[in-house]
Amino acid sequence: MKQQAVIFYFSGTGNTWWVSEELSHQLTGRGLKTKAYSIEKISQKEAVALMEQSDLAGFGYPIHGSDLPRPMVEFIESLPDNANKNGFVFCTQWLWSGDGAAVGASFLQKRGFNVLWGDHFLMPNNVTVSVIRLPYTNSLTRLEKVRNRAGRRIKRFAARIVEGKPFRHGFNYGAYLLGSMQRVPYRRVYHKLLNDIAVDSKTCIDCGDCVRLCPTGNLFYQNGDIMTRGNCALCLRCYNFCPVAAIKHMDRPHRHSRGEPYRGPVENFDPFILAE
Ligand SMILES: Cc1cc2nc3c(=O)[nH]c(=O)nc-3n(C[C@H](O)[C@H](O)[C@H](O)COP(=O)(O)O)c2cc1C
Repeated sequence: MKQQAVIFYFSGTGNTWWVSEELSHQLTGRGLKTKAYSIEKISQKEAVALMEQSDLAGFGYPIHGSDLPRPMVEFIESLPDNANKNGFVFCTQWLWSGDGAAVGASFLQKRGFNVLWGDHFLMPNNVTVSVIRLPYTNSLTRLEKVRNRAGRRIKRFAARIVEGKPFRHGFNYGAYLLGSMQRVPYRRVYHKLLNDIAVDSKTCIDCGDCVRLCPTGNLFYQNGDIMTRGNCALCLRCYNFCPVAAIKHMDRPHRHSRGEPYRGPVENFDPFILAE
């Protein structure tokens, strides 16, 4: 029987979606039939069934402070703990995470996965909020350059998986120490960051996109107003894809002088392919 693989990914603003699709394409082209699924679009039961049909399972997520986004942690923890399956893990990041893939592997090992491959892919920065002054861009030329560079690395990663040559980038003590320098303070302040999003009712055009796109149901309608529950995933999907930039972060509206919010790794990216 021909081997096949499945990829489960969480993506806030499309970067991890793009890497997952590219990786599926590369693996399939090398004879390992692979399909990628957004964890927001499948139930736990479907995920378990897909895993049972596959010889290999992959997991992808964006790095948040050298850590996994909460939806990915919850997804992994919802899986049975007796996977007994080879796996691969990858993260997307703007700049650096230290041991970003190894953190995911540590969660997966507890569910019985033998993680033989892990890698990090540099993708555009999606942190565009006013309080954090990191550079970001929607320039198509820049996005193409970043995609090309990531694409080459994805090809090498796919080749190693298909050849059965274990490769685990950043699975060492040095990377762990560097990752911890960011992850430990991040985990300490994390719970204070879950209610930083709000909708500016003066700018809002009431399209409801943020409510439908939110992966955790943090944004919801109450008596015609959009409210928050305080369980934000920090993915910045609502912030970046609001058509009129009506989402405030820490009570500050988007600073247009710094450029428009990040709209995903490809032109006209539709965030609804990740959710609903
Ligand atoms: C809350 C948060 C924390 C982040 N932390 C890091 C980080 O520690 N290192 C890094 O290089 N990028 C960091 N980023 C950038 C994202 O990891 C990066 O842009 C990623 O590719 C986004 O993927 P997505 O579009 O699939 O959500 C962070 C983004 C967010 C929203």
